[in-house]
Amino acid sequence: MPRYLVTSALPYANGPIHFGHITGAYLPADVYVRTLRMQGEEVLYVCGTDEHGVAITVNAEAERKPYAEYVAHWRDEIKRTFDRYGIEFDVWSGTSVSPPHAELSQHFFARLDERGFLAQKVQEQLYCTRCPRYLADRYVEGTCYVCGHEKARGDECPKCASWLDPLKLKDPRCKVCGSAPERRSTRHWYLDLPKLRDAHIGAWFAGHPWKQNVKGYIGNQLAEIEPRPITRDMSWGVPLPADRAGGETGKVLYVWFDAPIGYVSFTREWAAARGEPEAWKRWWCEPDTRLVHFIGKDNIPFHCLVFPSMLFGVGEGYVLPWQVPANEFYNLEGRKFSTSQRWTIPPLDFAERFDAESARFYLVLSMPESADSEWRWDEFQACNNSQLADKIGNLASRVLRFLEKNYEARLPGTPDEHAAELDRVLLSECGAIGDPGEHVREFRFRRAAETLLANAVAANVYIDRLAPWALRKTDPARAGAVLDTCCQYLALIARWLAPFTPLKAQALWEQLGCNGRVAQAGWPAAPRPGAWRTLPAGQKLGVLGGLFPKIENDAIAAERAKLGA
Ligand code: 2FM
Ligand code: ZN
Repeated sequence: MPRYLVTSALPYANGPIHFGHITGAYLPADVYVRTLRMQGEEVLYVCGTDEHGVAITVNAEAERKPYAEYVAHWRDEIKRTFDRYGIEFDVWSGTSVSPPHAELSQHFFARLDERGFLAQKVQEQLYCTRCPRYLADRYVEGTCYVCGHEKARGDECPKCASWLDPLKLKDPRCKVCGSAPERRSTRHWYLDLPKLRDAHIGAWFAGHPWKQNVKGYIGNQLAEIEPRPITRDMSWGVPLPADRAGGETGKVLYVWFDAPIGYVSFTREWAAARGEPEAWKRWWCEPDTRLVHFIGKDNIPFHCLVFPSMLFGVGEGYVLPWQVPANEFYNLEGRKFSTSQRWTIPPLDFAERFDAESARFYLVLSMPESADSEWRWDEFQACNNSQLADKIGNLASRVLRFLEKNYEARLPGTPDEHAAELDRVLLSECGAIGDPGEHVREFRFRRAAETLLANAVAANVYIDRLAPWALRKTDPARAGAVLDTCCQYLALIARWLAPFTPLKAQALWEQLGCNGRVAQAGWPAAPRPGAWRTLPAGQKLGVLGGLFPKIENDAIAAERAKLGA
């Protein structure tokens, strides 16, 4: 039996996350993990914040906060957001605080060096004499030599997304004091990616059954891959191992080198906390582990080439990724999310006024799986009101209230003489289309949510067609069977809903009179006629209540007004 080690890209502890992040790398992973668990799979879900790097030190300095305090604030704030949206990790940590992290990152560096996969180069780097320091990455700003954008950063152009060489930037300036930097020589270490490609990673990548967008995104990067610098001259980060530093001081590992090692460190931390410090090895070093990295598409090269090269290069039997589900970008009403330009929906603030689980469902339905997509307020309202409220909440309420009033709040049961016909109507004639879980396993989350809704629509068609409310007057036994069969189907819907809207699924489960956690009730396959009912006749219903309150037009108009849309 494979076991599933699931990770989501470690968010930078450098600001709030928004719905684009949530639907890009966290919500799909959470839905995947919840579904697999209900299907009986062994799963571990690992995440935490990415806490080093220049983007963080620049901002912490601007706020005059110690680095550790600054990242701790965002580590907690981001976790609060995940909690509010029901995104549940088995371990949540941070790369500057996870006890094994610094030593493990140094170990990776040392092993790669011993095994001949690191190279050293003395090179020129920009140095600000006024500050005084080397200007790593974002401490330097200038004009992009690819597209001409005037506010390119040292390592990357925000406009054309090219990776840049800071020495080639036109008109470079120190980001902190604005003065023109000079060039000085400094030694840096490189990960020898061409050597790692030729040793194994090239053949592994070429032979792996990737999803189409991964292959497309990598293109011929593998053929053109170059050694990548993995050290920086700065103080915040994991220091180079002293015995490898060759007398060099003031250097740390580049954030992109230590960050993915965080996945391993956090797993070790999880294992230690359980009192089984060696248990992490089962997850990282047993060949039947399926390592699944959920990320945004800009992280594809890192998770499909660079980190696998590191894992292979240390030669300690680490598994390589099995799948890397990578989403495209998610916008807000046609424009990029931007906290600074206030073109955003702060998730914690949103959850004060709207239901976070409705947002979860809409974020899955609009997920940028194969193309960029967007949050639209009118679509969110329609998803809540016309789909969740009308198709699921209203159906449950109509059926359960009727049973409460007319059948002593108990399930009437479906006698055999009615079962075959009701199965035919509900399962074949009303548009039920099967098990959403199959799509989740294939990382087609939108299709999964659509399938779930189509099944709910089928249940509505069924109940409207058989109209038990009228039938009860002439044939109460058959009306009872019609209602009971609908409840049996609602119990399937509750279980299918559990990964998408866990709290609402639990509420529906309890209203149907079921005990325990719906998440522990197992995953139902598509129902087969004659063999799918699970709730016993006579089961007493729980306390009834609304599931998905409708959202008024005014509430949506107010949100759009805030955007100025
Ligand atoms: O792009 C990002 O948000 C990075 N912080 C992702 C890092 S993923 C992993 F490698 F740690
Ligand atoms: Zn300066």
